[in-house]
Amino acid sequence: MSAAGTGNDVAAAASLYGRGNRNAGSSPAAGAIIEVERLTRDFDGLKAVDEISFTVGHKEIFGFLGPNGAGKTTTINMLCTLLKPTSGRGTLNGYDIVTQQDEVRQSIGIVFQDPTLDDQLTARENLEFHAMLYNVPREEREQRARRVLEMVGLTQRAGDKVETYSGGMKRRLEIARGLMHYPHVLFLDEPTIGLDPQTRSSIWEHVHELKQQYDITVFLTTHYMDEAENCDRIAIIDHGRIVALDTPGNLKHSVGGDIITLRADDTQAAQREIREKFGFEASIGDVPGEAAGAAQESIRLEVPNGRTMLPQLVRGLSTEILSVSVREPTLDDVFLSLTGRQIREEAGDKKDMMRRRFRARRMR
Ligand SMILES: Nc1ncnc2c1ncn2[C@@H]1O[C@H](COP(=O)(O)OP(=O)(O)O)[C@@H](O)[C@H]1O
Ligand SMILES: [Mg+2]
Repeated sequence: MSAAGTGNDVAAAASLYGRGNRNAGSSPAAGAIIEVERLTRDFDGLKAVDEISFTVGHKEIFGFLGPNGAGKTTTINMLCTLLKPTSGRGTLNGYDIVTQQDEVRQSIGIVFQDPTLDDQLTARENLEFHAMLYNVPREEREQRARRVLEMVGLTQRAGDKVETYSGGMKRRLEIARGLMHYPHVLFLDEPTIGLDPQTRSSIWEHVHELKQQYDITVFLTTHYMDEAENCDRIAIIDHGRIVALDTPGNLKHSVGGDIITLRADDTQAAQREIREKFGFEASIGDVPGEAAGAAQESIRLEVPNGRTMLPQLVRGLSTEILSVSVREPTLDDVFLSLTGRQIREEAGDKKDMMRRRFRARRMR
């Protein structure tokens, strides 16, 4: 397939991004580059996005976290002007997402949930072609390509066809491509979906580096709880609504301090002493033992500050303590406490993997 063979994809992307250089819009409210108010999108009566309101600050890494079907992609599509809101309003870089679409498009880069690279071109060709469509001056294209390739660690492979790349390399290349026209906001829709844990963490390293190297805001979605920790702030979205919005730390603190788990020689005595001496209501449960079938009785309690509490607890109990651990609540605990459900990653991953495979076949 030649460059012309991907004309549709790339031309669509070009019109999406708009042509022209990086311009600032009429100035957004101090500190905010995205402002959204009661944004809503209906699909035949289904409220895919239901009156969400939020702002995103300059240079923030802002995450939308939620299960499959929560409304993450629909939100991104509205912010990128690909989809018209049913009601509500939004601005990006000071431009209205409905009435100033060209200006919004000039301000953004997008990495879609599904890959859109041309497998038959080399990495460098993919980048230069993209830059050409966005009117990046010829003399700058090569230099920009070199810079973004370096950042995502693909310099050595820049001359190879993309079809020889692994899934993680393709994702890194797409991020690099999204940067070629120096957008104000980079949208990453599920940037790590379907990748192995090691590759996922390398993608995150690149996202953090982005913030250092480019003056850029990152808006991303994920359904991986552990990954959302990498964001400066997270909106937890469920059934089209934002159910919480804060820093990962604050969200976790909202669950109620740290969780201490301990095993004692005399469980009942330890539980009693914890209540009498420290005033905490501890629960007794089983933790899986190391030997097969050796589930052991343990005590679990939530305390405001585990690190301070732990030594006091160990000193204060008269029964022998066999093991003890302290952990912070995870975002899983947060999602569970907000929705009463857990995000099921397995089902989503399978569906997404199938879709990627299907798409990969179709593109050949
Ligand atoms: N073009 C569409 N037509 C009808 N329903 C849609 C369309 N796009 C998304 N939906 C529905 O809207 C809801 C939110 O979808 P989406 O934004 O893709 O969720 P997420 O990205 O969080 O997985 C889902 O119930 C989905 O089936
Ligand atoms: Mg999605």
